[in-house]
Amino acid sequence: MVQIIPAILSTTEADYDRDISRYSGSRAFQDGWVHIDFMDNVFVPNKSIDAGSSAKYPISLHKEAHIMVAHPKEWIDGLISANFERIIFHVEAEDDKNECIDYIKGKGVQAGLAINNATPIAKLEPFLGKTDMVLIMSVVPGFQGQPFIPESLDRIKKLVQMRTNGNFSFKIGIDGAVKDTNAKEIADSGADFITIGSYLLKGDIDENLETVWEKING
Ligand code: DX5
Ligand code: ZN
Repeated sequence: MVQIIPAILSTTEADYDRDISRYSGSRAFQDGWVHIDFMDNVFVPNKSIDAGSSAKYPISLHKEAHIMVAHPKEWIDGLISANFERIIFHVEAEDDKNECIDYIKGKGVQAGLAINNATPIAKLEPFLGKTDMVLIMSVVPGFQGQPFIPESLDRIKKLVQMRTNGNFSFKIGIDGAVKDTNAKEIADSGADFITIGSYLLKGDIDENLETVWEKING
C-alpha cells in the first residue's frame, strides 16, 4: 500500500518549529515519517534551515531529508548527526553520485535519488541497483504550493517498468503538488511514497489527510 509522507519546507527555525510540531501532534503520523526539505540557494533559488536547526527540535517521527543542494557531500554528516534515517539527494547534483550513495548506506542510513522533471529518467540507470528509493519531482524544486507537472505520472509508470525489468528493489516516491484531486491517479500509477506539503498544512492536517485517503481508496 502507498505511504503518505508529510513534507516541511522551512526558511526559518520559527516556521520549522511550528510545522514540525503540527505534524508531530497529528494523530495520523504518530509512528510515521516526515520529509524535510533542505536548500542551499545554489541548486535552487531558495535557502532553508540546515541540519543543525532540525536537530534542535527532537521528534519521534522518522526523518527523511530531501536535499536540493549542489554539493550533497557537504550535508551528509550533519544530517546523520541530526538522526535522519533516509537522505535523498539529486541526480543533477555535482558530487559523485555513487560515492554519496555508498557513503550514506555505509553509515546505515537509506539513500535516495531525486530527479527533476527536465532530466531524462535514463540518467538514473547507473544507480538503480544500489539506491533505496527514487523521488520523482512533480514540481520544479524550491517552493511549496506550486502546480503539478502532469508528465510525472508517466515517469512513475516508466520507473515501475524499469524496476520490474531490471529486477530491482528500490521504492518510488513522488514529491510536489499532491492533493486530494490527483492523489488517486498518482497512487494508481505505482508510487510507493507520496509526499504532501501545502495541501496538508492548510487547515486541519488529520482532516486533509483523511480526504486524501478517501480519494485514493474511493
Ligand atoms: C519542493 C519540495 C517539496 C515540497 C512539497 O521543492 O521538495 O517536498 O515541500 O510541498 P507541496 O506538496 O506543497 O508541493
Ligand atoms: Zn521535497
